[in-house]
Amino acid sequence: MTYAVTLPDRGGFDAWRAAARIAISHQIPPDQLDWTGGGGLFATAPLPSDIGPHQVRVTQQFLNLAQSVIWHSDPERFALLYQALWQSSRHEGAATSQADPLGRRLHLLAKGVGRDIHKMHAFVRFRECPSNGPRRRFAAWFEPEHNTLEPGAAFFAKRFGDMDWMIATPRLTAQFQDGRLSFGPAAPRPDLPDDASEGLWATYFANIFNPARIKLDAMRSEMPKKYWKNLPETRLIPEMLKDAETRVQRMRDAGASQARPGAAAVSTRYRAGMAQAVAPPATLDQARKAALQCRRCALCEAATQTVWGAGNPDANLMIVGEQPGDQEDLTGSPFIGPAGIVLRQAMAQAGINAETVWLTNAVKHFKFTPRGTQRLHQSPDRSEVENCRWWLGLELAFIRPKITLALGASAAFALTNNDDAISPRRGRIETGLHDRPVLISWHPAHILRLTDPASKASAYADLTQDLRTAIAAAQI
Ligand code: URA
Repeated sequence: MTYAVTLPDRGGFDAWRAAARIAISHQIPPDQLDWTGGGGLFATAPLPSDIGPHQVRVTQQFLNLAQSVIWHSDPERFALLYQALWQSSRHEGAATSQADPLGRRLHLLAKGVGRDIHKMHAFVRFRECPSNGPRRRFAAWFEPEHNTLEPGAAFFAKRFGDMDWMIATPRLTAQFQDGRLSFGPAAPRPDLPDDASEGLWATYFANIFNPARIKLDAMRSEMPKKYWKNLPETRLIPEMLKDAETRVQRMRDAGASQARPGAAAVSTRYRAGMAQAVAPPATLDQARKAALQCRRCALCEAATQTVWGAGNPDANLMIVGEQPGDQEDLTGSPFIGPAGIVLRQAMAQAGINAETVWLTNAVKHFKFTPRGTQRLHQSPDRSEVENCRWWLGLELAFIRPKITLALGASAAFALTNNDDAISPRRGRIETGLHDRPVLISWHPAHILRLTDPASKASAYADLTQDLRTAIAAAQI
């Protein structure tokens, strides 16, 4: 008689262990078990449902090995593990030992699984998808060699616990939502959105690429070619290899031996996109409510509250600063502290009534360093501005100002994605990421910091002039 065992697509180890425990307790020999669920040439019967009289104790070493082997794609893995269990139950040698042929085979399978999990952790590339909630959403497509999504996903849950994400593979989908990890059936490869950070990856990779150090074999074994197609940075490889000889020569000529300064500091944070986009907030007020719960980056941890924009939701002119300061953080309103006073004074001089425009910031939470009882302003970094762009984008989308005035470098970067210095750009109109005009000006805090009275007066006059230009453009 052959017994058929059908194992589920998920939770493979527990199911195998339960079936193997019953089979071994009835002393069913390995050749009488069909782990493929039957359907072969021979008539099969289901496994008994009760535990039989024969007791077998297994070592922790066997359990560890089995817990790894079980994820291998080799269709014989269940049978091999049972064979090992059978062998040890009959005291026919330790089938977990490398000295035993079966043990060696099992160790090889376990090694393959370990390597596959390692590759997944290294090569999954998330892309960001629209999110209408406070948590950012990401998705990735990955093609592991074995069934390693289940054992490999906990790593991502730990690392990206403050985001929602999914990883789709040809066999299974992992979903992490509101801190809960679950698995579902395989879905077709999602149509992932392009991600701005792919450009960052590619730039990073191109910058650290040292043609003199390429070891193609090592590269292929560490980053097997089959993974290349899903990695943004590897799209550059053929091009860079073509150019490698010339670049090596150029480096030799220049005597260069160091990676570019700062290259190592480039963020390698994973980013990605969700399979199905969720509807973003439908109104400016919904966006505001969602922003109050924002946890897109760590700034929300120390700040008192989200400081959303204020003013006229139908404004033709939007004014964007860097981030709320101490007083804005405490009250929840933008531009009411010292920099706000300078701005409002310049606006009044330019004939702008603050209630007719929309005043907001590139970053909606106050970033500071505590010093005694004081909270000292710290400029947001690039990734914080990028994270917060989602909210600024919603403000722009709902208010649709004719022109936006960017105050200082963070606002200019948030609006245009150009982080060049402000001095040569001040007073110029650039095109924003939203395809509308952005006028660049000084930040009022910069004016406050200037100590030379003439420079201070001149910068203040510039700001007032830019406000005049902006309101004139807004009224056309
Ligand atoms: N500085 C800013 O950029 N924005 C504020 O709201 C306050 C100070």
